Amino acid sequence: KEADLIDQFGRHISYLRVSVTEHCNFRCEYCSPEEGTPYFDRDDHLRVEEYDRLIGLFAHLGMRHIRFTGGEPLIYPHLLSLIESAKRHGVGKISVSTNGLLLGRLAPRLVAAGVNNLNISMDSLHADTFAVITRGGDLGRVQQGIEEAVKAGIPRIKINVVLLRQRNGAELPALVAYAIGKGVDIRFIETMPLGVAGSEAQDGQYLSAEEARRLIAERYPLEPAEAQADHGPARLFRVPGTQTHVGFITPISDNFCATCNRVRLTAGGRLVYCLGQEAGIDLLPLLRGGQGDEHIAEALRRGVWQDKPLKHFFVSDPGRSARIFMMRLGG
Ligand code: GTP
Ligand code: 5AD
Ligand code: SF4
Repeated sequence: KEADLIDQFGRHISYLRVSVTEHCNFRCEYCSPEEGTPYFDRDDHLRVEEYDRLIGLFAHLGMRHIRFTGGEPLIYPHLLSLIESAKRHGVGKISVSTNGLLLGRLAPRLVAAGVNNLNISMDSLHADTFAVITRGGDLGRVQQGIEEAVKAGIPRIKINVVLLRQRNGAELPALVAYAIGKGVDIRFIETMPLGVAGSEAQDGQYLSAEEARRLIAERYPLEPAEAQADHGPARLFRVPGTQTHVGFITPISDNFCATCNRVRLTAGGRLVYCLGQEAGIDLLPLLRGGQGDEHIAEALRRGVWQDKPLKHFFVSDPGRSARIFMMRLGG
């Protein structure tokens, strides 16, 4: 369709990641500065009507999938209403990426609002390690949240584990066992040097997806699995005889940008084209300057066409390193 978002490399953008807050009730070592995110003036945050309008515009521009992220999206008071609004605008697939802390209470309401996919972060099965990584997070409550989500019947649940050699390198097969026990999927993610970036928090923690796969394969056979339609960046395997898929996300050692179909909206109303780069458009001045839908849609089409980069660059590319904290982009 002519109206759709396409970039100059021919990639169709059909997946929007919407960050609904920059704040989080955890402060993971690899994601957040120790003191939390800087103060963010309320007026600089998209209002719920502005999110709703943008979601409508993006739906019209061909988004088939919206994932809500943060910060932690479950602390945003209008999350359920935005999910309903995305459904109303005809977006077929709705996902949420959460740290799970508030899921125990919210899981049934997320199902009722129409959430299809839930990605939940859980980097360790040891309460003390978990508290170190999240700087104080309560593992028991997260696991309760995962159980409630399974019980509530969210169609697809994936556990996200960021690979951290000295923190969870020794418990990868145990994490897979946990996922098998709950009948959910699990993905292992190489740490990306964003924000906290290049800092000591990540020194000596890098563990490649390839090594992780080998460690897991010592205990569980892994059969390569077909990627689903509209697949994300994970390379997938099946554990025979179980429901569980094991995925590996390898932004550092392998590049999945060629098939990238996504863009990101920050809570400050900035459309960002790629996780590793600052290029983007500020939509707040357009929204608040009284521009009409067609004008904004045209700015989105032009921006994506001109500025979505071919691939991401992290600190290994001098001069082009990412300066945005992960918190601001929600992964
Ligand atoms: P689905 O494929 O829709 O399940 O989502 P996802 O795996 O992309 O989402 P999730 O929010 O669970 O993110 C998992 C990891 O993938 C996080 O570490 C993200 O930062 C990373 N990730 C997601 N999209 C991109 C991308 O476009 N580029 C890079 N480099 N990493 C990404
Ligand atoms: N590298 C890799 N993954 C990260 N995430 C947050 N920060 C990083 C990072 N620096 C992950 C979270 C969550 C997902 C949305 O992004 O653990 O699972
Ligand atoms: Fe919060 Fe998720 Fe970042 Fe951890 S990784 S600080 S849970 S946004």
